[in-house]
Amino acid sequence: MHNAALAVRGIEARYARFHIRPDELAPALGLLPALGFIGVNLTVPYKLAALASMHEIDAAAQRLGAINTVIVRDAQLVGANTDGDGISGAIRAEFGRSLGELRVLLLGAGGGAGRAIAMQCAAERCPELRLANRTFAKAEALCAELSAMPSANVIAAVPWNEDELGAASATSDLIINATSIGLRATDPPVLPRSMLRAGQWVYDTIYNPTRTPLLLEAEAAGARAANGLSMLLFQGARSFEHWFGAPAPVSAMRDALALMS
Ligand code: ATR
Repeated sequence: MHNAALAVRGIEARYARFHIRPDELAPALGLLPALGFIGVNLTVPYKLAALASMHEIDAAAQRLGAINTVIVRDAQLVGANTDGDGISGAIRAEFGRSLGELRVLLLGAGGGAGRAIAMQCAAERCPELRLANRTFAKAEALCAELSAMPSANVIAAVPWNEDELGAASATSDLIINATSIGLRATDPPVLPRSMLRAGQWVYDTIYNPTRTPLLLEAEAAGARAANGLSMLLFQGARSFEHWFGAPAPVSAMRDALALMS
């Protein structure tokens, strides 16, 4: 995705993978300016650990307590988080709606991706935001944290049982799966078809497999369904914008991702 973007923009740089062990993270980040890096992406488990090596941390990364993008600026390291932009752009591109106009049910609010999505929903003032998580205490803690944000609308924690999930789904426009259920072909759908309906939007942050059991159930129920590839695309596009201070060539990046999947 990024190499396609660099080629389209005629930027002489490469996006590459580096194997960094936990004890190498801080020294590796420290070397970035001297080695001529423009920036890097980081993923689990380094999203939190890298915070300590940053000279500056942007507002989104501060809110989330995690970074996925580092920008090298004037030999200093700036930590950013583009995961929220990822879900926001994905919902707009897939369903033609902005998060701020949808009643959202988020499944898996306790994980890292769930936290980023919940924060973005609250920041965009979703009219209603329901946070469901198997470990209920995590949903409750996040609910309390978000409710304290000045932008907060109706935010509620939902216990992980059939009755509560069914009731929450019935009054939601958009359901987002941020659990890891669906990564394995043998996984059950996170929600059964009986809890989904036509006119609803269902977004699964999983993109491999491309059609999870949840998305298949959603389609069977007449709902519109989309997988997490677009979230990957838009968080990447936002990272590109951080690095180069110019709009990302989204369609070239999308084509590159489509070839991969
Ligand atoms: P991360 O995104 O930080 O890597 P994770 O450990 O992969 O997080 O888990 C992602 C989410 O999937 C969590 O919300 C997790 O629920 P818990 O907080 O209760 O652990 C959820 N999850 C994983 N397996 C699940 C299952 N079988 N049923 C329900 N939720 C599940």
